[in-house]
This record gives sequence, structure tokens and C-alpha cells, in this order.
Amino acid sequence: MSISKALNRNVTSQNTIEKRLRMECLIGATQIIAPSTGSDVVKGLTQTSKSLPPCYFYDNRGSELFELICDLPEYYLTRTETIILQQYAGEIAKITGACELVELGSGNSTKTRILLNAYQQLDYPLHYLPIDVCAGILESSAKQLLRDYPLLQVYALAATYELALAKLLPTQLPSRMICFLGSSLGNLTPNECSIFFSQITEALQVGEYFLLGIDLRKSKQILEPAYNDSQGVTAAFNLNMLEHLNQQFEGNFDTPQFEHWAFYNQNEHQIEMHLRSLRSQIVELRALNLKVNFALGETILTEISRKFDLNIIKQELTTQGLLPLEVWTDPNQWFGLLLCQLQA
Ligand code: AVI
Repeated sequence: MSISKALNRNVTSQNTIEKRLRMECLIGATQIIAPSTGSDVVKGLTQTSKSLPPCYFYDNRGSELFELICDLPEYYLTRTETIILQQYAGEIAKITGACELVELGSGNSTKTRILLNAYQQLDYPLHYLPIDVCAGILESSAKQLLRDYPLLQVYALAATYELALAKLLPTQLPSRMICFLGSSLGNLTPNECSIFFSQITEALQVGEYFLLGIDLRKSKQILEPAYNDSQGVTAAFNLNMLEHLNQQFEGNFDTPQFEHWAFYNQNEHQIEMHLRSLRSQIVELRALNLKVNFALGETILTEISRKFDLNIIKQELTTQGLLPLEVWTDPNQWFGLLLCQLQA
């Protein structure tokens, strides 16, 4: 092929990609923006038991580290959910019929491809609405998907779940399915979880679908290594939050003076991830006009990752009007995928 023909072909495919992509940023143009001015950081670091919101994990480096976590041998969650999706995507597509796929926290959209393939096989129109706080990843994954699926239409939203759910326009397809995969639900407290479910029910019409992936309760011998991997990627992910705060709020956290600490709290059925101060120290965040004292051994809670009981979560979803139509798991019953439908 001549160079000019190749260039032309490239321009044509670029055009079609541009025509099939709509992107809107509700929180920032080119990079991850934490959804706050820092008041949540001040609140978390000035209370007796210090904590930080997990949204501060996800700057560009944090998002990259999370992608690496998903491939770690100890982190069974992504692998197991993928196997379940591969097995049941066809069934999901048959149940929902043609529908718009909305994905909360879409990241690199790897698992979405399994669903898109299933809808494509049934010759359904492919409409995908990825939502993520990281505009960079959102745009690059949307473009890659558009290259790989010539009939796909993408409307990407750089937004928090809350903003995006409140802003969803009626779909042009007969139905809609909101997907919340990867057990991100586990990072919400029970109270945040029930607020989140009401936001889902507000965003859906009666008869539309909610696809939820959740990590199930299991022994701490399996759970704890998943958050304490041998290569130290999870530790780097956790510590990177301090670098992100330094950058965003002119901070002087000395990261080597903190260590990663994660354990399974059996009573609360949740992994708790902390950063532990390795000495007594004072940290300043100049943009927030904040000085924080740390005692030797004092910790900051950076994330909870709740592990679910299928019967309890089914009950909770049903109470919220999201009737579980199907529940699929893997042979070990490590992970659950629930297809729910909004009731009248
Ligand atoms: C995003 N979320 C579901 C992950 C989890 O397992 O709770 C975040 C994570 N934290 C440490 N490793 C992975």
C-alpha cells in the first residue's frame, strides 16, 4: 500500500472513531482530579483514628499500580470475576436483550470486552458508557475499544459515580444495564453502600438492569496475601497515596517513613489497609494549611475492602428494589456476579 493510501485509511478510521466517541468531563480535563478541595483530607487527618478517602489512590501512578495489582498471582479477584463473566456473558445478553452498557469505574475496560463480545454475537447494537475519575485512561481505553469494535458507540464520562449517575440521559436502546464490577462495592461503608444503591435505582427505569461483581467471604489465608503481595505492588499502591497528597496539596510526607499494613478484620468481614508511621513525625500540607502529628506506630486507615455473604447482599438489594434475577459464582465460591432488575 502506498504511503498516501495508508495515511488516508488512517485518517478515515480516525474520523469514524471521532464520530463514534462523545466524551464529557464533569470533574477535570486531562488528569485525575480528586472530587474534593481537600476538606475530606483535613477531616480524616485531624480525627483521633486517622483515615484518608480511597479516591486519593487514583492519580496516574495509582491507576497504573492498580492495573498491576489486578494481574498479581495473589490477587484472585480480577481473574475469578473474569472467568465468571466469560462463562455467563452470553446468558446475561440473552436476559437483558439489546441494552446500553454503563460501567462505573471502567478503568481500562478489559472486562467490558467480554460483555461487548456477547452482545455483538447476538447482533445487538453496541452502546457503551464508561465512567471513571481518570479522564486519561477513559479516553485511551475508549479509543482502543472503538478501534476494535467498528460498530460501537461510546459516550465516556469523566466523573464520580454520584455525578455521573445523576446525569444519565434516557438511553436510545430498549434497556440499560449499569455494571459495577471488581468488588468496588466493598470499598464503601455499609451506609455509603445503601446511598449508592438508591443512586442506582434513581438512575434506572423499572425493568432495567444492574450487574454487580462482589468478593465473597473466605479464609484469611487467602484474603490477606491478596492485599500483601510478595512483589510489594499493593504496598507501593498504598504508599503512593502520600505522594499524591504531596503533589496535590503541597505536602511533605516522607513516604519511606511510613509502611503498608493490611489485615483481615474477621468481625467486620473486611480487609483494612493502613499506612503506619515508622517514627514520631510532623507532616505539613501547605495548601490545606494543615500540620499533622504522627506518633511512632500510629496508622492512617486508607481503605476497607468488605467481603460479602451472598444471602445478605441479595436481601439488601431486594429491599432496595433491585431484584437479583441470577447469581453466578466460580467453583470455589470466591466471587459472585449478580444480575439484578429494578422492580416497580
Ligand atoms: C478497587 N477495589 C475493589 C480494590 C479492592 O480489592 O478492594 C482496591 C485494592 N486495594 C488493594 N488492592 C486492591
